[in-house]
Amino acid sequence: MARYTDDSRERVRDAVDFVELVNARTELRKAGIRRYVGLCPFHEERSPSFGIDPVEKLYHCFGCGVGGDVFKFVMETESVGFGEALELLADRFNVPLERTEEDPRAAERRARRDRLLALLERTAAYYVRLLWEGDEAAPARAYLEQRGLDEATLREFRVGFSPSGRDRVVVGSRRSGFSDAELLAAGLAQRDRGGGLVDRFFGRLMFPLADARGRVVGFGARALREGQQPKYLNSSDGEVFHKGRMVFGTHLARVDAAKAGSVVLVEGYTDVIAMHQAGIRNVVASMGTALTEDQAGELGKLAGTLLLCLDADTAGQEAMLRAAAAVRAGARTLELRVVPLPAGSDPADLVRSEGADAMRELLGRALPFARWQVERALAHGDTGSAEGRDRLLAEARAVIAPLPASVLREELVRLVAGRLALSEGLAAAALG
Ligand code: UTP
Ligand code: MN
Repeated sequence: MARYTDDSRERVRDAVDFVELVNARTELRKAGIRRYVGLCPFHEERSPSFGIDPVEKLYHCFGCGVGGDVFKFVMETESVGFGEALELLADRFNVPLERTEEDPRAAERRARRDRLLALLERTAAYYVRLLWEGDEAAPARAYLEQRGLDEATLREFRVGFSPSGRDRVVVGSRRSGFSDAELLAAGLAQRDRGGGLVDRFFGRLMFPLADARGRVVGFGARALREGQQPKYLNSSDGEVFHKGRMVFGTHLARVDAAKAGSVVLVEGYTDVIAMHQAGIRNVVASMGTALTEDQAGELGKLAGTLLLCLDADTAGQEAMLRAAAAVRAGARTLELRVVPLPAGSDPADLVRSEGADAMRELLGRALPFARWQVERALAHGDTGSAEGRDRLLAEARAVIAPLPASVLREELVRLVAGRLALSEGLAAAALG
């Protein structure tokens, strides 16, 4: 982690609007010239024992005893280390950070990384300009309109268009002083058969993939023409892009996820964008492949509850089981729920056809993961024969037995007992 000067740190502290920062987590009420109070964002309570001093920029809760400064607040609410908290606040309140002297090798690595990020950034800006201004992008604009996506939302996500020329990005970047090695390392170019450098992306809709701070590290590029393969061409893994760690939309979902206490995981880039457009903003996407432990870890930083909003088909159900395994390994405290999506519908189409309120209601009906598993087993199992019922009992046991004594556990035992026509005594014994 980079080290920043004490002076930078103090400038960030000065620039932070602490009331605004805390208000995003809990509603504050002015209670004195130097005091605001609200419900504690760190523990459940009914009457406010949490307060801040907006001048000294300190918080304290008399209920649970937490307290600290602006940096501690971000570290605790966003589960990040000090350095990341400092960077997040510096970004949010527009304070340039100065580094302490680094060892020359680290400085060199960082300078190289900054150049690659700058190259990706200007390329993203170029793709955005082409999408909205280029004649060649007219079909892309028509496609987006037909999908019901607004320009304002697409601009927020910085969706763009890559031109069909073979080397427009390569040529433009070289002209601005970027080297071929940098173009390759940033994942924007590749060698053609003759050994020359050509663009990696052309004639596609470009979805920038950004890190948690919103810096572009790669692209997902969607085909637009019939027969253009693959449907999505993503940046390949390299110095700045790591698909296995990428969660699409993190930087735009962070604040709302923290406020809601939950983050919704959908499959596609368009699902995320359509949900945001509908005002449901605590939404992110995995990268199409099975959720990795690293991605689960990133999700765990966003909120305490993860709502899986994946297709209900067989592949989607498999994906949910794998996601659960990744969460158990990578974010143990994350509570998992399953959103009951109607089979065959994706969130983008659903939110468009049914509206935001219907979508919100659906999210509100998300089932605890264990309940979803038990219901799924019961729906597929054979309750007609003794063998079938014993098999179901064993399946249910695998889910229920590890649960702590709880209302949910009790409900599941009753559910299984009812469906298998067992006495509650047998069910309790067999499922314990
Ligand atoms: P989908 O095929 O569901 O795409 O893949 P989508 O994003 O919903 O796009 P639309 O609605 O057809 O426009 C879901 C996700 O899987 C990854 C992408 O991240 C995509 O958003 N994916 C899919 C790939 O990486 N490569 C592929 O060829 C296909
Ligand atoms: Mn889709």
